[in-house]
Amino acid sequence: MLAVVFLLLLSRRGCSPADAPDFAAHFGSKTRYEDSAAHRRMLLLSPPPPPPELLDDRSCSPMHLTAVVRHGSRYPTAKNIRTIRKLSDLMASSRGAGPEGDGDLDAARWRDVLRRWDMWYTDDMDGQLAAKGREDLRNLASRLAEAFPTLLGEESLRGGGGGLRVLTSSKRRCVASAEAFQEGLHRRANVTPVSYRQRVDDGLLRFFDHCRGYVERVEKNSTALREVHKFKDGPEMAALTRKAASKLGLPDGVLTPDLLEAAFYLCSYELAVKSLHSPWCFLFDRDDAKVLEYKCDLKLFWKRAHGHAINLLASCPLFHHIFRTLDKAGRPRRSTEPAPEPASILVGHAETLLPLLGLLGLYKDETPPTADNFRLQQGRQFRSSLLVPYAANVVLVLLDCARGPRLRLLVNETPVRFPGLPDEDAPLYRDVRAAYRHLLDGCDFREACEGGGRPPNTEL
Ligand SMILES: *[C@@H]1O[C@H](CO)[C@@H](O)[C@H](O)[C@H]1NC(C)=O
Repeated sequence: MLAVVFLLLLSRRGCSPADAPDFAAHFGSKTRYEDSAAHRRMLLLSPPPPPPELLDDRSCSPMHLTAVVRHGSRYPTAKNIRTIRKLSDLMASSRGAGPEGDGDLDAARWRDVLRRWDMWYTDDMDGQLAAKGREDLRNLASRLAEAFPTLLGEESLRGGGGGLRVLTSSKRRCVASAEAFQEGLHRRANVTPVSYRQRVDDGLLRFFDHCRGYVERVEKNSTALREVHKFKDGPEMAALTRKAASKLGLPDGVLTPDLLEAAFYLCSYELAVKSLHSPWCFLFDRDDAKVLEYKCDLKLFWKRAHGHAINLLASCPLFHHIFRTLDKAGRPRRSTEPAPEPASILVGHAETLLPLLGLLGLYKDETPPTADNFRLQQGRQFRSSLLVPYAANVVLVLLDCARGPRLRLLVNETPVRFPGLPDEDAPLYRDVRAAYRHLLDGCDFREACEGGGRPPNTEL
């Protein structure tokens, strides 16, 4: 099975590199899945060889799969679009005004292209799933079905073991992604669906909206995100803004860090939505992209991950839901009893996946990222471009083995080990439960989100 996943990863096709800027793997949470995967391969984060304990245990067979999946490539949100419009207006009105920046002929040509750039985004696109985003989910479903045919194949689609359970966030891009995922499974199995079935559950997939403590202590609290604000006003961003303003021939101070970021993400959206190497990309090189990627990571770290304990604890309902589902699927049963539910698919956001990865104890660096340690963080594990690109996924596969059920974890289709069980690729499920005992017995959403007391420990 490991070999299959690995081969799938190798055979994944993306656009050829010439179609995309060379920093396409550094767009943070706006990175395309294929660019993220290509970068992971380059970093040699390929799966380790299968551990001996699994080679001996040849009787393993997958019995259940739970997948938490992010929606696919999307249009900019209404707020993003407003900033993009400001940027486009600024560029259009800069005709002939001010110094012409660096005298580079090439730069002059780009400036001209950007002045005449057609602002084609409209407010109603507001974060919706793009056609490419549907494709992201169809392709992911198809690859997972290939790796786990007994769980995501024809029999499950026809309702075997109660069939698939699909829960989604209420956002349209997630509902559309949940459909596209099912479409991918049906197409691959050559099954004509009557209709796709998914149920909205924001309590599970948009838990952050329902956690008062989180909203008050983090979301509405600018102190909680001070490292992000500090970095935005810091020397790295200032240097980048000056350089871009000069390339654009804009006078000092006109191009704000917000507008600079809009240009960067515009480059990402044109690629993710239209497969286009946008002229806006010309403002940046790979080192510039790494600065903006870091800004995205800082924000996600302090707002959605290890930065504050409450960020993680808000996802306790999802954590409990997943383990309850695994408990049920792994329960010993007589041969006369029906097979366990083959798969549970949960479709949400980057903000759904990051706290879950955090609770699982993954991607926690020794030193937290701050406004001042960009240089020291070059080798950090917490990198949103690799963790939460479009269609990011966390997959837990319960295996039926001779010595009892085992659990395998895949993050973006790459095998990952549980931090508490670093020696095993697919540890016994009971050992996984023991490693997370403190969360399984605690991790109380109500207490964490409504109570005023000290948050419980999330350390492993
Ligand atoms: C805001 O965040 C800071 C830093 O995390 C924290 O010390 C403070 O208590 C928070 N304020 C509120 C109102 O929760």
